[in-house]
Amino acid sequence: MTSKTLTAPSAKPLLEWYDRHHRDLPWRISPPMAARGVKANPYRIWLSEVMLQQTTVQAVKPYFANFLARWPTVNDLAAAPSDDVMAAWAGLGYYARARNLKKCAEAVAAEHGGIFPDSEEGLKSLPGIGDYTAAAVAAIAFNRQAAVMDGNVERVISRLYAISTPLPTGKPLMKQKVVLLTPADRPGDFAQAMMDLGATICTPKRPACSLCPFNGSCEALRLHDPELFPVKAAKKDRPVRQGAAFVAVTEEGEILLRRRIESGLLGGMTEVPTTGWTARIDGATGTDAAPFPAEWQPCGTVIHVFTHFELRLQIYRVAIADPVEINDGWWEPVTNLEAQALPTIMKKAIAAAIPLAFKSVKE
Ligand code: ADE
Repeated sequence: MTSKTLTAPSAKPLLEWYDRHHRDLPWRISPPMAARGVKANPYRIWLSEVMLQQTTVQAVKPYFANFLARWPTVNDLAAAPSDDVMAAWAGLGYYARARNLKKCAEAVAAEHGGIFPDSEEGLKSLPGIGDYTAAAVAAIAFNRQAAVMDGNVERVISRLYAISTPLPTGKPLMKQKVVLLTPADRPGDFAQAMMDLGATICTPKRPACSLCPFNGSCEALRLHDPELFPVKAAKKDRPVRQGAAFVAVTEEGEILLRRRIESGLLGGMTEVPTTGWTARIDGATGTDAAPFPAEWQPCGTVIHVFTHFELRLQIYRVAIADPVEINDGWWEPVTNLEAQALPTIMKKAIAAAIPLAFKSVKE
């Protein structure tokens, strides 16, 4: 395995490995299923690929099952109220994906008769479908020879060819290699095999090279240090933003909620009233900015890491007898919080003030 002469990488050993060691996933047509004639369902493949961007397989599974139970076809999803879709998505993060998911379903239903286009180009013309999703759906659902690049694939390929240019600069070269390696026969299985290999063998830390079907071809292994790849560009520190959030509860057990504006971070999602999130603590981030004057009590800080900043949210709570009249909000029974489109940061904020508000809050 560490011999000096490497064989040229080829898809064949990877596909043989996949035939034996593929993961069984709810949206996947595994090789034995394909042998029985089961065909991929493009709606399921598309839905899973959108959910899997930035989210782990384990986290996606219950959401995928729930979406399919509620909206078994793309036409059902297209016809669903947006608020229901956002509420079902809550907790998966990156909420623009949910808005685009709905728009895409509507476009497929209205403009394509409920049938997904079967080419990379056709898929890319749909709202919210970028290079990755178009390639993944074209390959996995329609067996098109599309080169699928995600984080797992980038890691495998950067090791296989010892590509030392850091991402994102190194990406075009990595893509070139994936294009050359993707077979005309079974491109969908090839893409899924690369992902499974990255998730289970060619892991970021301590890859299991002795079990890898590419171990006779891997340049990084020959250099004795696969973990060096992909080479990381120097990291910029994540800036910190701060703010406050206000949890008001009535004697009847209702909580004050608002809807965030449609555009921007967490757009259209539900929240407890919150200040702006800024680099500096000042008058605008304290109780002066509360939704109504009251004896607001501090009850801790919650921290949430977004892609581009870390948020530290000071939580205030107040118990009042009756609902206060509010222009841009509503009073919701606390017992109905699970059904709201509350992003994780807002669940954490509410849980800081009302510890038993949720069964569990995902980090
Ligand atoms: N991650 C993203 N898409 C995936 C897929 N189709 N199979 C496994 N992991 C994935």
